[in-house]
Amino acid sequence: MKIFLDTANLDSIKKFNDMGLLDGITTNPSLMSKEGGNPKDAMEEITKIIKGDVSLEVVSTEYSGMIEEGKRLREYGDNVVVKVPMTPDGLKASKSLSSEGIPVNVTLIFSANQALLAAKSGAKYVSPFIGRLDDIGQDGMHLIKEIKEIFSNYNFETQILVASVRHPVHVVDAAKIGADVVTLPPAVLDKMLQHPLTKIGLENFLSDWEKLKSENPDIKI
Ligand code: E4P
Repeated sequence: MKIFLDTANLDSIKKFNDMGLLDGITTNPSLMSKEGGNPKDAMEEITKIIKGDVSLEVVSTEYSGMIEEGKRLREYGDNVVVKVPMTPDGLKASKSLSSEGIPVNVTLIFSANQALLAAKSGAKYVSPFIGRLDDIGQDGMHLIKEIKEIFSNYNFETQILVASVRHPVHVVDAAKIGADVVTLPPAVLDKMLQHPLTKIGLENFLSDWEKLKSENPDIKI
């Protein structure tokens, strides 16, 4: 399963990229707005730092505007994936861009039927938002299972990009289902790295080593 970071924050992107953990990045207008400044600078920088796919989202809501913006976004790099919303115009734009060889991520997917239509438009990724479904009392992970089954039935090449991830259990469940990608807020990726027993175990190893060293001051590894 590929791991993308869901942020436009350059410090977080650099931190996790340096650890070798990132296969790509997803952004959206809200994440850009959270960072402030000129989003063009962030887009330029992110597409340079990251080798894998970087989803950059259009803000036009009608077809021709989406195509224009999509092509402009692609100028930031060959790794840019154009993110379009799951609307009739978004699907039409997905079909056109995809058939020109420009990869598309159809975002704001909340049902299996929406995912099916996005896959039929030729999109490289569909982004089902599981956390937002959980927030309204539905089972976001059930949607991932449904999409996985449908895509397998028809050998769709469209990848399932699990979005709106809220906690590490979402990641384990998505991996068990066989989702292609999870996109994670930096805080979730941070939590995945940690376990209290790892911390305690390391503290014990180091204090035992110090004991040994106090008896044999010259030892070195
Ligand atoms: C995905 O591409 C979106 O940017 C994101 O996962 C949305 O998550 P949220 O529901 O936490 O805003």
